[in-house]
Amino acid sequence: MSKYLIVANWKMNPLRQSDAYVLASRVEDGYLKFGKNVDVVICPPFPYIAVVSTAVKKIKYGAQNTFWAEKGAYTGEVSPAQLRDIGATHVILGHSERRIHLGETDEMVNKKVRAALDHGLSTILCIGESEREDGEIPAIVGEELVSALAGVKKQLLKNLIVCYEPVWAISTGKNARPDTPDSAFRAVLFIRKIITGLYDRKTADLLRIIYGGSVRKDNLYGFLTEGKMQGALVGGAGLDADEFTGIIEIASRAR
Ligand code: PGA
Repeated sequence: MSKYLIVANWKMNPLRQSDAYVLASRVEDGYLKFGKNVDVVICPPFPYIAVVSTAVKKIKYGAQNTFWAEKGAYTGEVSPAQLRDIGATHVILGHSERRIHLGETDEMVNKKVRAALDHGLSTILCIGESEREDGEIPAIVGEELVSALAGVKKQLLKNLIVCYEPVWAISTGKNARPDTPDSAFRAVLFIRKIITGLYDRKTADLLRIIYGGSVRKDNLYGFLTEGKMQGALVGGAGLDADEFTGIIEIASRAR
């Protein structure tokens, strides 16, 4: 079984390059101490990717977004080829903060996913519902998955990581609460069933699925074991070096 994957999504934090350097260095130290048995990725804001890349040697770094075109007249955008060129290995796409607040449509997410995979970036595709009415995983989760993967060839799925991140579980939301491991496990089954329908059983079994939404060191273990998640996307707790190091340690020991 592959190692667990722990991804820090720094969002639009911190405010200073020097703080980004210190935080990344401390995460690297924590990884060296506890985390050899886990894959760790930091996704800082674009302007701090360079400084993070100088602070880390063993852990990887990536971006929180990318564009679909390779180069040209797209003011303000950053291409997958440019991310590869600076050594980024991962990219987060389809995050709910971009879908809901910045107008990113399913079609845009699909174009970005295809471009990122075509350029060999490990692509963390976020899907998740805004509200949960009963225990069932809502259909929107499947719809986001199907539309994001339109036209994606099976061979490219080895670089895809699906992040199930219910919007109501994200720590910055009002009344946010983490999902339960049991419900996260149902999301894993739900996602694998859809991938089986779109591709085949083997592809579905090999797909990496991680959980996001208020992950902390005291709840991660349940998501990895009972929830059968293969890692986590960590927002707020990723900005606290001690807490994040604790998360790395738990993921490393759980495997
Ligand atoms: P959170 O954020 O861990 O602070 O809930 C996760 C995310 O939005 O990626």
